[in-house]
Amino acid sequence: MTDLFREPEDGTPLEPGEREGLRLTWVTTRADLNIAEQDNIDKGAAWAFRARKPALMTVDFVRQLHTRMFGDVWAWAGQYRRTERNIGIAPHMIGVQTSQLMADACYWLEHETYEPVELAVRVHHRLVFIHPFANGNGRHARMMADLVLRRLGRPALSWGGGSLKQISEVRRAYVAALRRADREDYEALIAFARS
Ligand SMILES: Nc1ncnc2c1ncn2[C@@H]1O[C@H](COP(=O)(O)OP(=O)(O)OP(=O)(O)O)[C@@H](O)[C@H]1O
Ligand SMILES: [Mg+2]
Repeated sequence: MTDLFREPEDGTPLEPGEREGLRLTWVTTRADLNIAEQDNIDKGAAWAFRARKPALMTVDFVRQLHTRMFGDVWAWAGQYRRTERNIGIAPHMIGVQTSQLMADACYWLEHETYEPVELAVRVHHRLVFIHPFANGNGRHARMMADLVLRRLGRPALSWGGGSLKQISEVRRAYVAALRRADREDYEALIAFARS
């Protein structure tokens, strides 16, 4: 069915608040933004997966990866968030908690505390729980998990195998599993990431 008056999907213009730090003048709609971000993320992934990165579990790498994934599009890429969100810890705790996570992750890696997928999923969950950046935390933390697995010579996760866009079944399952992980129960998130 064709409806000439229907807006194309995601054709809504971005609000001024959503444009803060936007580097690209040609991006005016959500659809434009999706294209620009995906290009940037593909470049970031090419960089991140290209060679063995010397120090994956460091705050420097975490921030550098975010910059590589979002820095062409957003001026604030790689910088810790300075404002409160409904997801994530208080902004002044981000630096300490991210360092602590990297220290924990190094320990887990060295001592083989968890099998590879559980290690990757725990790193993913802790990162999105902290929510270090203004946006892009989900995509960044999923790539971190896949990089951890790659470091261990394992295949990347499939993360539900479908679109994680807002308002999808897959997304609902993902968020439900993250909430269980908030209560230290990682089983659902591990199953989801593998599905
Ligand atoms: N209750 C929740 N609802 C939505 N996302 C949540 C929730 N709890 C944790 N999250 C995490 O936060 C991420 C969304 O944060 P953010 O918008 O910064 O990342 P993103 O990469 O832009 O998101 P997306 O997953 O939509 O690509 C989700 O991907 C998920 O990992
Ligand atoms: Mg987002």
